[in-house]
Amino acid sequence: MTIRSFHPPLRILMGPGPSDIHPRVLQALGRPVIGHLDPQFIVMMDEIKALLQYAFQTENELTLPVSAPGSAGMETCFVNLIEAEDTVIVCVNGVFGARMVENVQRCGARAILVEDDWGKPVDLNKLEDALKANPGVKAVAFVHAETSTGVRSDAQRIAKLVREYSALSIMDAVTSLGGSPVKIDEWQIDACYSATQKCLSCVPGLAPVTFSPRAVEIIKGRNHKVQSWFMDLNLIMGYWGGGQVRSYHHTAPVNALYALHESLLMLKDEGLENAWERHQRHHLALKDGLHDLGLDLLVDEEHRLTQLNAVLVPDGIDEAVVRKRMLNEYGIEIGAGLGALAGKIWRIGLMGQSATAQHVILCLAALKCILTDMAAPVA
Ligand SMILES: Cc1ncc(COP(=O)(O)O)c(C=O)c1O
Repeated sequence: MTIRSFHPPLRILMGPGPSDIHPRVLQALGRPVIGHLDPQFIVMMDEIKALLQYAFQTENELTLPVSAPGSAGMETCFVNLIEAEDTVIVCVNGVFGARMVENVQRCGARAILVEDDWGKPVDLNKLEDALKANPGVKAVAFVHAETSTGVRSDAQRIAKLVREYSALSIMDAVTSLGGSPVKIDEWQIDACYSATQKCLSCVPGLAPVTFSPRAVEIIKGRNHKVQSWFMDLNLIMGYWGGGQVRSYHHTAPVNALYALHESLLMLKDEGLENAWERHQRHHLALKDGLHDLGLDLLVDEEHRLTQLNAVLVPDGIDEAVVRKRMLNEYGIEIGAGLGALAGKIWRIGLMGQSATAQHVILCLAALKCILTDMAAPVA
């Protein structure tokens, strides 16, 4: 077997992530490596922190990118905040809520599930019933933007309710950050994690996280050591904390952090509100175009994510064939349904740099050609 350099094909990324990356970010990735304790690097780390605080709309001091993907951001929140004697309510309305349950259980804690149908947002009444029935719950965890179904839950109202019962809120903003409003301080969210490959349009493999002062107190005052050495924020604070004296924790992914710095700078230059509006605008255009083809979205209008569109597959159409043809004939990647929605939906992402008019038009045109060719009932 002869192994040569790998040259990936050019793709148009319109799945559930990763999204397309701007050349500015790819160029940043190729800049020379410097040491992760180099004084210049530390200046850049501080800038990343400030830019992340802007993206999360927070003044939280403990705001940083975990050196691993979104799943590690999720785990960082749970292993630091939850201990074996705790009870946590987890709102489950898709794949990622179910993963949170796994995280709680692997901390040795008790998970109480508040379940909603896939395609529906978190039901506040059910959550309140669970809070009433379980006094002393330590935290409530929920997914703001459920990538598996295209649903946005009302994070502001969930967090308010959780506060009324003196619990901590843990929010998954993997797909929402940068694409729709995420307001950590205004909504009083205690812990939030995201990922870089969705609406931030950066390389996969980093997980921005942020923790409120109340959450930091809990992390510092734990009864037992965090079971994960790598994710123990008490240790990571020595590297990502303020000041010029940083202690070695792990070798930071230097070039990936250059890329994150650049993508966050692009977000800042565009302005968060403008980025949210851009996602909204292209989502509406895609929705109208799909509607003209006779295709519907899974989620009710008021709960739809703009950056992830769950499209119902017409009867009699093999959704996998359509996805394969989109990729092979047009270079467009769209996503399949997961779990209960496998075979029933396509997931079309309009995230970050993939939320443009060109993406919308190309995707609609390609879908129309393929579906017509397959004799699907499209207009
Ligand atoms: C809502 C949500 N949470 C968590 C994750 C996990 O992120 P990662 O794949 O970067 O580990 C994803 C990934 O798609 C996601 O969509």
